[in-house]
Amino acid sequence: MNALFARKTIAQLQSEADEQEHGLRRALSAFNLMTLGIGAIIGAGIFVLTGVAAAQYAGPAVVLSFMLGGVACAFAGLCYAEMASTVPIAGSAYTYSYATMGELFAWIIGWDLCLEYAFGATTVAIGWSGYVVSFLKSLGLALPQALTHAPAEGGLLNLPAALIVLAVTALLVVGVKESANVTSAIVVVKVLVVLAFLAACAPFIHASNWHPFVPRNSGAFGHYGWSGILRGAGVVFFAYIGFDAVSTAAQEAKNPQRDMPIGILGSLVVCTLLYIAVALVITGIVSYTTLNVPDPIAVGVDAVGLTWLAPIIKIGAILGLTSVILVMLMGQPRIFFSMANDGLLPPGAAKIHPRFRTPYVTTMITGAVVAVAAALLPIGVVGELVSIGTLLAFALVCAGVPVLRLLDPDAKRPFRTPAVWLVAPLGVASSLALMAGLPLDTWLRLVVWMAIGLAIYFFYGRKHSKLRLARPPNASNGPPETARGVGGMK
Ligand code: ALA
Repeated sequence: MNALFARKTIAQLQSEADEQEHGLRRALSAFNLMTLGIGAIIGAGIFVLTGVAAAQYAGPAVVLSFMLGGVACAFAGLCYAEMASTVPIAGSAYTYSYATMGELFAWIIGWDLCLEYAFGATTVAIGWSGYVVSFLKSLGLALPQALTHAPAEGGLLNLPAALIVLAVTALLVVGVKESANVTSAIVVVKVLVVLAFLAACAPFIHASNWHPFVPRNSGAFGHYGWSGILRGAGVVFFAYIGFDAVSTAAQEAKNPQRDMPIGILGSLVVCTLLYIAVALVITGIVSYTTLNVPDPIAVGVDAVGLTWLAPIIKIGAILGLTSVILVMLMGQPRIFFSMANDGLLPPGAAKIHPRFRTPYVTTMITGAVVAVAAALLPIGVVGELVSIGTLLAFALVCAGVPVLRLLDPDAKRPFRTPAVWLVAPLGVASSLALMAGLPLDTWLRLVVWMAIGLAIYFFYGRKHSKLRLARPPNASNGPPETARGVGGMK
């Protein structure tokens, strides 16, 4: 039983990062990491869900929902930054849990992160397809329903969603630097589109649209009023998902100790400010009641007569969603890669491409599975799974940071979470509170997903764990001397 809780020390993890120096290429600067974060964050959340959250739950007070979501993410972001600067190794949240809570919890969090990354990419790919279909339709090119919708939505398969996943996967196999460059270019366009929206629309704000700022609750929990702001925060939380993806690229950062916190916290701050501004402007230029549409920003622009701006917004959204898919499809294989390095997944999954130096096996497997999921699943089901899985990961990371302060107080921590005994518990509490607001069937899906993960661990991972195999049979908790001898990169 003790073996389940066997853990690595930080020194051991830091030396693993050094040994792997010759595997993945250290190509990303602080600026690259920040654009990677913004690339992962701004997407379906702001371009699609702002409208739904304002129209159905919070009214103009969706601004407050964004603030609440931002605060919860800030707690988690501060904990992630300590984690990522201390353990600069691919698949950080997973790896970090190995050091804080042992192998079983590491597996649980790694498996849970699949919900965030793989299903996150699936969700955004389906949203991407919706925007592309709508854009092509406005050009007079209507795609058939059968090829643009999942079976549960009256179609055969969502072909555009599958195709964008496969295209991004091909790019990721070729190289992380190339992928980061594409992301940086897209991020610039995406941020410019958001700024153009703010600048062009701010003069059309009518303060009357903000009254009442918090519409009266309808009598049902979550339908306007203060409970609506809370539920709105749960919905727009999706808009913040992605800043933690920066931590999965720690091994490819040129100077992870300094640059990881800049990448994580910097991208979170930029996006929070943009979100609050967009929420203020969109609810100021039209009545929130008109925003329950798939493209609320474009609809708002049309409503104030800036019709020339609508196609630009749509193109910006399509590009923006593309970069979210890219970063998520980049994060997932790197988590599998770390798991395979530890023996918890078959060794083939840890293969690095000899020329491109990317984890190409896990990248291609992830791409294939996500493409099939994006073609066949409805967006609502996968979207809620992403939120609950991400919130669970946030709660575990926030819990792990103070635990490791106790277990390994002398480890070198280039970035220390400020007021950790306050920030970390608040991070756990706010994540659990947002999880509690999600529907019961989403909780059941989470339980089923975790049960599948545990079955894989007990039938495969536990038997092949390199840490466990290297331990003498009666060893107590703690790292084995010989673990590194079998733990190198394949
Ligand atoms: N934050 C990402 C988005 O809004 C997942 O699409």
